[in-house]
Amino acid sequence: MPLLGRRRLTSFNRRMGRRLIRAAGWLIGVGLLVGCGESAVRSSSLDPQGPAASQISNLWWLMLALGGVTFLVVMVLLLYGLFRKRENPDSTNLAAMETSKHSQRLVVGGGIIFPAVILTVVFGFTLYTLAGLTGMREDGSLVVEVVGHRWWWQVNYPEQGFTTANEIHIPVGEPVQFRLETADVIHSFWVPALHGKLDLVPGQTNTLWLEADEPGEYQGLCAEFCGIQHAKMLFVVVAESREEFEAWSAAQQESAVIPTDELTEQGFVVFMDEGCNDCHTVRGTPADGKLGPDLTHFASRLTLGAGVYPNNRDFLASWIMNPHDLKEGNLMPATSLSDQELEALLAYMESLQ
Ligand code: CUA
Repeated sequence: MPLLGRRRLTSFNRRMGRRLIRAAGWLIGVGLLVGCGESAVRSSSLDPQGPAASQISNLWWLMLALGGVTFLVVMVLLLYGLFRKRENPDSTNLAAMETSKHSQRLVVGGGIIFPAVILTVVFGFTLYTLAGLTGMREDGSLVVEVVGHRWWWQVNYPEQGFTTANEIHIPVGEPVQFRLETADVIHSFWVPALHGKLDLVPGQTNTLWLEADEPGEYQGLCAEFCGIQHAKMLFVVVAESREEFEAWSAAQQESAVIPTDELTEQGFVVFMDEGCNDCHTVRGTPADGKLGPDLTHFASRLTLGAGVYPNNRDFLASWIMNPHDLKEGNLMPATSLSDQELEALLAYMESLQ
């Protein structure tokens, strides 16, 4: 290579090197920020917050450790094989036989015994983890029924007799039984910080036991591709003290508040006239549609659009006027309300505490 070209290449390498170092520094900085920031909603399976998630995470660490050790051993052997001194072609038959015996031992040890030991350990620990996950059953526990829809979660509390959506409250430190069903395609219920995934399969009820060690909000999501808005099929699990849970449950069992002022009353009229009632239920009113989420206590929920947007006036207004801007392909049709009608409907929705 001509000298000039080589020099150019070296300066190019140096520039690239500096860029790479800068990029790495930036990534580490962002990583530290993200790592240090106390996230409000816990969502990592590596930060387990319940007995089931802890057991799954232990299994994961064991597999990572064994996988890491195996990888290192294989890499060392590979390097050894690449760089060891070649046999002298003039060597005696005796030496060649010695080498072949040595190779056979290596194949039996490294190809059969070593993998068998590793796999047996992983298999044993997996069985132990599975036994632990199914051992959480407890009589008289809270039962929550979850029905997957494209793309939101219907949440029934059969013993308490009410339905809500996209937000699940549970008492902290108690195993809760989840019965999972679907109204359409296969979805998968996953709260990474609390448990592994379990599919919602048409025509079948799958059961999962879940417990949270600490009060807090835990991110849940759909983990099985189910259509265009699969990624926006989220929910939140709120773990709270027994007293707080009882208070929440009692409030959810109530019928919707009856409008008391003129604007809210007008909002209810818009709700009925626009046909919102065909798809949504508001308990205590004639609105009893079953296609969309139950809205009886809509304003008490943290999010809208199935865990995707904060439940505030701006997002609610956008959602009502054109839900497809926020979540393309969902079943709710756009509306064409006047400003005054929208104002009234927003007031009504915000009254549904
Ligand atoms: Cu439901 Cu993906």
